Amino acid sequence: MRLLLLILLYNALFSAESFITKEEYADQLYHNPRGIGCHLCHGEKGEGKLIAKYVHKGEEKAFHPPAINGLDYDHFTQALKRRNEGMPRYFLTIDEMHALYFYLHPDHEREDDSDE
Ligand code: HEC
Repeated sequence: MRLLLLILLYNALFSAESFITKEEYADQLYHNPRGIGCHLCHGEKGEGKLIAKYVHKGEEKAFHPPAINGLDYDHFTQALKRRNEGMPRYFLTIDEMHALYFYLHPDHEREDDSDE
C-alpha cells in the first residue's frame, strides 16, 4: 500500500503536469527523506561535516560523516543499500537514490532518465 502510494506520488511528481521540477524534488528529498535529513550529517552540498569531537578512553575522536558529493553512482547506491555505522537506514527506492545522487551531482544523467 505504502509502495503504491509512493509510486503514485512519484508519477504525480514526474508526470507531464509536474508542478515541481526534478531539481526541486531532489533538493526536498535530500533535506527531508523518510527520516533525518542527509544535510544534517553530510553537509548542505554533501561536502562532509564535523559533528562532534569527543574523548574515548583517553583518545581524541571525532564523529565526522564523510563527503558524499564525489562518489560514483554505483558506489553511492551500494552504500545506501547496506548498513553504515553511525547512519540510519532509509530503505530508499532506486529512483529516490537517483534523485539524491542527482542533487549532489547535478551534471549526472542516468541513461534511462527522461522527463516525460
Ligand atoms: C546521523 C548521521 C547521518 C545521516 C542523517 C546520514 N548519513 Fe550517510 N553516513 C553517515 C556516516 C557516519 C557515514 C560513514 C559510515 C562509515 O564510515 O562506515 C555515512 C556514509 C554514507 C555514504 C557512504 C560514503 C562512502 O564514501 O562510502 C553515503 C553514500 C551516504 N552516507 C549517504 C547518505 C544519504 C544520501 C543520506 C540521507 C538519505 C545520509 N547519508 C544520511 C552518517 C549519516
